[in-house]
Amino acid sequence: MELPWLEAAGVELACLRLDLVDPLVSGNKWFKLAPYLEQAAAAGAQGVISLGGAHSNHLHALAAAGQRFGFATVGLLRGEARRTPTTDDLQHMGMALHWLGYGGYRARHRPDFWTPWLARYSGFQAIGEGGLGLQGARGCSALVAMAEAQLARIGWHDFDAWWLAAGTGTTLAGLVLGDGRRRVFGALAVPRDHGVAEQVAMLLDEAGEAQRRYRLIDAARGGFARLDEPLRQFILQTEQIGHLPLEPVYTGKALMALRDFCERGQLARGSRLIFIHTGGLQGRRALMGADANYTQV
Ligand SMILES: Cc1ncc(COP(=O)(O)O)c(C=O)c1O
Repeated sequence: MELPWLEAAGVELACLRLDLVDPLVSGNKWFKLAPYLEQAAAAGAQGVISLGGAHSNHLHALAAAGQRFGFATVGLLRGEARRTPTTDDLQHMGMALHWLGYGGYRARHRPDFWTPWLARYSGFQAIGEGGLGLQGARGCSALVAMAEAQLARIGWHDFDAWWLAAGTGTTLAGLVLGDGRRRVFGALAVPRDHGVAEQVAMLLDEAGEAQRRYRLIDAARGGFARLDEPLRQFILQTEQIGHLPLEPVYTGKALMALRDFCERGQLARGSRLIFIHTGGLQGRRALMGADANYTQV
């Protein structure tokens, strides 16, 4: 990538464009979902049920996978019923939607949460919010080999660190498990008290690798999915100068946090990093309005 702040810091950055993996099952989603879908198929599940918000990239990718591969999908949504570009897509793609309210959604961590839903949708496989889980993380470990296989094409023998957005921390845990050598920086899309550190620790522990190290960077800019003017300008400028499409919830915040990190001199000159573009561009429509530049499904 060629961006003035990288040049000023003497840092080299390459971007793993997972947003280009597929127009619908985009970003980190395929890597996270695939192990659960394989498990559902092997078990002969009737369909897949999961949960998320009204702009959820996770539900969007799941609905698209269900439509493409011919399995039923059910989405449990946070809050009161409303239409967003994402929920319109979910319906077009054949996902059955249920709105849980806010209190009902908060109950998702209770051990008996799934019981009534799995009684109603008998034989369905449940996937936790955002694909959180060791299986999802293991699916993301494949990103290490995927990036390494492309290094020669950009003239790199090696690199020093990964930089990516963290929401549940599943993708980050997958990288930490898949790459025992390089540093991993996770730019938090959510505030610190949302439990990402605890979730990553739990995943690493479950994998028997609790000693692995990584670093979480504050990048939420006042709250999950908050878009301020400097962030909007950063996204539009990066698109213009760097030809990289970003969205405000994850990738825009993550790359902006890297810029701030570079500007504070926190990376040694000569460092080489890979930024993982984790997708999510469908979510631009609601937040970026006229600047969204993304077509309805
Ligand atoms: C576009 C995008 N990037 C990054 C993330 C964060 O990934 P994870 O939840 O695995 O930390 C998400 C949410 O899952 C996402 O939708």
